[in-house]
Amino acid sequence: MDILKTKPEMQEWSKNKKKESKTICFVPTMGYLHQGHISLMEKGKPLCDSLVLSIFVNPTQFGPNEDLDSYPSDIENDLALAKKAGVTAVFLPNKQNIYPENYQTEISLQYLPNFLCGKSRPVHFAGVATVVTKLFNIVMPDVAVFGQKDYQQLQVIRQLTLDLDFNIKIVAGDIIREKDGLAMSSRNAYLSKSQRTSALSLSKSLRLAGKLIARGEKNPVAIRNEIETFIQSFPETNIEYISFCNPATLEDIDNIENQVLLAIAVKLGKTRLIDNALIDPSQ
Ligand code: PAF
Repeated sequence: MDILKTKPEMQEWSKNKKKESKTICFVPTMGYLHQGHISLMEKGKPLCDSLVLSIFVNPTQFGPNEDLDSYPSDIENDLALAKKAGVTAVFLPNKQNIYPENYQTEISLQYLPNFLCGKSRPVHFAGVATVVTKLFNIVMPDVAVFGQKDYQQLQVIRQLTLDLDFNIKIVAGDIIREKDGLAMSSRNAYLSKSQRTSALSLSKSLRLAGKLIARGEKNPVAIRNEIETFIQSFPETNIEYISFCNPATLEDIDNIENQVLLAIAVKLGKTRLIDNALIDPSQ
């Protein structure tokens, strides 16, 4: 497994692959890898000749009061997991590499960031869009894999790939859950024992909504009220949003007729967790 620490090294590596007519699949991450990331690598591995993983905690996607300084990291373990998953090369740039002195450019989208997480994290998606654009230009992949747990991020990436004419196929990876249903996230590491129990309110709410919709409930307000009461019955939960929206545009819907995205964000102490499900009333 090659480890590339600078932009020119990574670009040179990718150019050489292209010269050999080898395709590249890319999985960008912020490290502290868990089974969710591994599933993205497993999904990407058979799609191309080589698999590139990046590990970079991108400062521009964190707001001033967010967890940039405490974001968990374990590079040694990450490299061991990447090797085991069959990664061909790891791109491990530092901040200076990605954002050199006098760096000035930002990529921002007009509509998708106005919903869901974007409402409470106003700088987040511009930071994600900017770093992913840069990583695409550096790694030059043919395919890139992003997890569906960050559904809004996935939509933002799909849109920017289209808008900026990247010739990259975007592949969505399933949400990977712990045995009890909690969606895997590097941020789960912050949870205390009691918060970990309350965190199950998110995945349980998705199941509850699925059942109500399957029984014929079409009114998102009625379901939202039930879910709200349910989540609030767990200690330390602070609901940020419960949204029934159009899976493509992320706009709120007022009647559940077709496939709907139910997205939830809840704060447990200082830790903010998100989860979502695509629910089809006809199934
Ligand atoms: O999903 C993440 O880990 C990050 O948002 C990403 C896509 C690597 C950009 O920093």
